[in-house]
Order: sequence, then C-alpha cells, then structure tokens
Amino acid sequence: MDLLVRNVRVGERIVDVAIEGGRFARIGPDLDVDAARTVEAGGRLATPPLVDCHLHLDASLTAGKPRHNLSGTLIEGIHVWGELKESLTPDDVFERAQEIVRWSAAQGTLHIRAHADVSAKNEAPVRGLLRLRDELADLVTIQVTAFPQDGIYSDPRNEGLVERAIDLGVDCVGGIPHYEPTAELGLREVHRVFELAKRHNLRIDVHCDETDDPQSRFLEVMADDTVRHGLRGRVTASHCTAMGSYEPYYSSKLHGFLARSGINIVVNPYANSLIQGRLDPYPKRRGFAQLKELLAAGVNVSLGNDVIMDPWYPMGKADLVDAAHLALHFTYMSGLEEIPEMLRCATERGARTLGIEDEYGIEEGKPADLVIFDAPDPIEVIRLRAPRRWVIRRGRVIAETTPAQTTLLGEPVLFRGNPGSPGAPSCR
Ligand code: FE2
Repeated sequence: MDLLVRNVRVGERIVDVAIEGGRFARIGPDLDVDAARTVEAGGRLATPPLVDCHLHLDASLTAGKPRHNLSGTLIEGIHVWGELKESLTPDDVFERAQEIVRWSAAQGTLHIRAHADVSAKNEAPVRGLLRLRDELADLVTIQVTAFPQDGIYSDPRNEGLVERAIDLGVDCVGGIPHYEPTAELGLREVHRVFELAKRHNLRIDVHCDETDDPQSRFLEVMADDTVRHGLRGRVTASHCTAMGSYEPYYSSKLHGFLARSGINIVVNPYANSLIQGRLDPYPKRRGFAQLKELLAAGVNVSLGNDVIMDPWYPMGKADLVDAAHLALHFTYMSGLEEIPEMLRCATERGARTLGIEDEYGIEEGKPADLVIFDAPDPIEVIRLRAPRRWVIRRGRVIAETTPAQTTLLGEPVLFRGNPGSPGAPSCR
C-alpha cells in the first residue's frame, strides 16, 4: 500500500484506512498490511473533504482596490468591484485565486464551486478561473459558474457575455434575478438561465433573492423551472436571504415546493451576516435562508465562504468549518443532533450540491481524499473549529497542521470538552 492511516474514526467506527494508486483500497479494523507511509491518527475523526459551494475567487484579495468599501454595504461593494473589474487581467485573477485555493486545500477544502463575473467586458474573471480549474485540478476540484454580477438584461451586452463564457467552457450557468431593474426582467432572466443550461447540459447556480425584500420570490420560479425542465439535483439557489423575511405561511408552502423540486440551497454566512438588515431600524433582521427548516423539510443545504478580503467582506481565511460554526449561530442549529448536521452541510451535502457523489466519500474504490481533524467527533470539530491535522488528496498527504499548544502555570490547557466521546483522551 502507498499510505496507511491507523486508528481513525470514520462514522461511528475506529478503523484503519489503506490507500493504493490514489484510491481507498481497504477500510477496516486492524488491517494486516504494509505501507510506504503510515499515519497514526490516534482516534481522530476523518471525513471526506470539505466542499466550498460558493466562492467568488475572482474578487478575493482585492480589498482596498481601487478603494475601500467605507459603508460596508452590498451596494457599495458592487460599485467598488465595478470600478475595478475592467482593469483586471486573467493572470491577476489566476494569481489571487490560486492563493485562496492554497488556503482552502491546506484546511481540507478539496472541492470548490467558484463564480466568475462574466459582466466584466474584458473576460478576465472567467479566463483566469478556467485556467485555475484546469491547472490546479490535481490539488482541488473546481467548478466555474458564469455569474452575471450586473444582471443579464441590465446591459444589452451581458446576455452575449454569458453565452461567450459558456463557449469558453464553464461548468454552471448563473444569474442574479433580484438585481434586474424589474421583476418581469428577473423572471425572464431565470427562464433564460434554465434554457441555456438545458441546451448546453450545464448545472445551474443562481444568486437568488439576496435581499431583505420579502417580495423577492424568484426561488419559487427556480423550483418550478427545475421540475419543468427535469433538472432535479442539477440546480442550486445561493444566498436566498429574503427567506429570512418570509412569513410562516408562505415559508411552509415554499419548503414543500423546494423539497419536491430537488433544488439545492447554499447558505453563505460571512457576507450575509454583515450585509443583510442594513436598512432596518432596531430590531434588525439578520437575513438568513431558513437552513434549519429547510433541512427538516428534506431540502439539501450546503455552505460557502462566498467572499474573502474583497469589496464586500474584509475578513475571511477560506475555512469552511468556521463558516459552519457561524451559520450554526445565525440559524439556531445548536441541538445535539443539529451540530453534527452542520459538518455534513460542509462536507457530504456540499458534494450533493456539486453533483460529485460518485467520486466522493470514504469508501473502498473511491478517490482517496479525506480530512483528519484534531478532534474526536463532529461536535468537537465545530465547537473547537478544530485544526485539520492531515489533509489527504488522491492518497497523498498534502497538508499537515501542528495544533497550537497553550499552557497555564506550566500545565497544558486542551480546551477539550465532551470527555465521553470516542477517542477523546488519545487525541493529544
Ligand atoms: Fe455570492
């Protein structure tokens, strides 16, 4: 074997994981195998890789260019980005995005859905990110979405730019219907996105209802189009923050439509926790999709970092466990069974959103991608925002983290709770 991971927790079991030729070869207790390298996991939890379902890699690391977003609002962020994007080059986009991909991989995110702003007339975002997808494929699997940040119909050139990005080879078609000048144009945009995706056999990922306006209801149109076009599982609606202002009757009706359509919802807790509710007097709405209620209704929900040090968000370090931790707070996912569900939103539910389940998961025969956390169970992973002790890609250890050690009066402080968890005592 090429690599053997001893005593690692997978699901409810402590097992050994043997890897050969980049795939999981054998998984079971006390395997009698030799390997070129052995990792002693000491009872730590392993999961398949983290999946970042929504990341604007073209804008990452541009905070302050050409000026800072002084108000911190979504609209000023769009204006600042508009002032910058026509001056970008594919190489500049590639270099900044590559840096974020390196941060992501180091923290166990090995699948990313990126958004390229195709309303930039210079095509720099889409060209830079397509190069990134192809050149970094051994490190991280990337899907690129053609995202018309300025809307498809707000400028007569934009529809052609979306089609041009499709010709260049994107994986998904995007939209932003709530940003169109009228609701009628927003509806037209949704239908156009579905037509294009169907014609070119692409997935769909639309920025949908990212507003505090409870009358913004393009999500129900997306669900209906998903059913009419037979695209179950291939459609994602991202942000959906207007849902945080929907009243209960409409919400319950919508949840049923969404579940039946098989649409995926992506929650992006970082920017939306700061952008939504800005115009409200106190008490302020905080504008989140109803993650808890959607899961209860049977809707697949996953997570994205969305923005990292860009015109909309000056913070961020590409850690999806941090995003899950933050989303837990805003969506009330603190029940004993709900906390582990947040880790599933960051892993296997993300894989379902990206449509990569066939090549995802710790199972014999599948690609040997996994993350070993410095924690014994999912609750401790989320609570501690646990370091990724080892990250393995296609059977190779690509990242290792040595956790920080704190002492108090000369004695180590481990910050470890949940002492009954399997493997807890042996993690350090
Ligand atoms: Fe976004």
